[in-house]
Amino acid sequence: MKKDFINLDNVNKKDLEQILNLGKSSKKNYLENIDKKLNSTNKTGVLLFEKPSLRTKLSFFKALNYLGINPIYFDPKEVGMGGREKISDIAKVLSKMSDLVILRTFKQDTIEEFSLNSDVPVINALSDEEHPCQAIGDIISISEKCEPSINEIKLTFIGDGNNVATSLAKVFSILGGTFIHSCPKGFEIPDKHLDKINDFNKLSKGNFILERDPEIASKNSDVIYTDVWTSMGQESEKEDRKEKFKGYQVNASLLENSKAIFMHDLPAHHGEEISEGLVDHNKSIVFDQAENRIWGQVGLIRYLMNLK
Ligand code: NVA
Repeated sequence: MKKDFINLDNVNKKDLEQILNLGKSSKKNYLENIDKKLNSTNKTGVLLFEKPSLRTKLSFFKALNYLGINPIYFDPKEVGMGGREKISDIAKVLSKMSDLVILRTFKQDTIEEFSLNSDVPVINALSDEEHPCQAIGDIISISEKCEPSINEIKLTFIGDGNNVATSLAKVFSILGGTFIHSCPKGFEIPDKHLDKINDFNKLSKGNFILERDPEIASKNSDVIYTDVWTSMGQESEKEDRKEKFKGYQVNASLLENSKAIFMHDLPAHHGEEISEGLVDHNKSIVFDQAENRIWGQVGLIRYLMNLK
């Protein structure tokens, strides 16, 4: 049966650990010159993106190239998913001519419908609801920078309960870590995802905590994480969100009052969710974090396509 990675709801701890271990061991072998590039597979990975991308596109190209898979990219203007052409028809065409599909969409429903009609594995490369590939890369980064294993890590996410927060909280709950969310009223992770996070936490003994005050939320954390206040597709809400998120900016004094490292999935809006230049603070790991997108995705593709 084909395996997909379109959300984190059906991912269990064992599978997630397998993905992470494949990613970490591939990185180690790459850095130690054991495997600079795997043998060509004669396979094709298609990237179909409805939204802009820097890190996701580049890291998928790097991952596919490392795995000997040929990447083909369609930009937001080219295909017209669900408009110019039916989603189900596109999925069936790509099932004939490719071996893997990587989708970035406005709506999670588009990815779900695509996956139902696809015979080849489908990866969610960001939707309005989830960004699961970011979350797996982030776990690799946290494991590299923090001593304890994830089930002993406290991560404080300051900001919108958006796609990035949702996937990261799910991964933490699968692995049994503590995820603290600090946001203004009305910007919590949606209930249907919180229900899933609570279910995972029952199994893993992880914790999800909502703490409105960012100072209290980050005091004893190992990681302080933030993302944009206005995600792609929400541009009309930008001014309103800037007003409501006042008081939730991550700045140097917040970092210096805690032992935490600082993470951001990027792009960052300097002067909004972070103070100007915070990405270069000595506690920031954001650029190493960006690079680890490659290795999370190498692990994921190896797992989905059964590549040894
Ligand atoms: N939450 C952001 C993440 C960008 C990588 C967005 O969806 O625009």
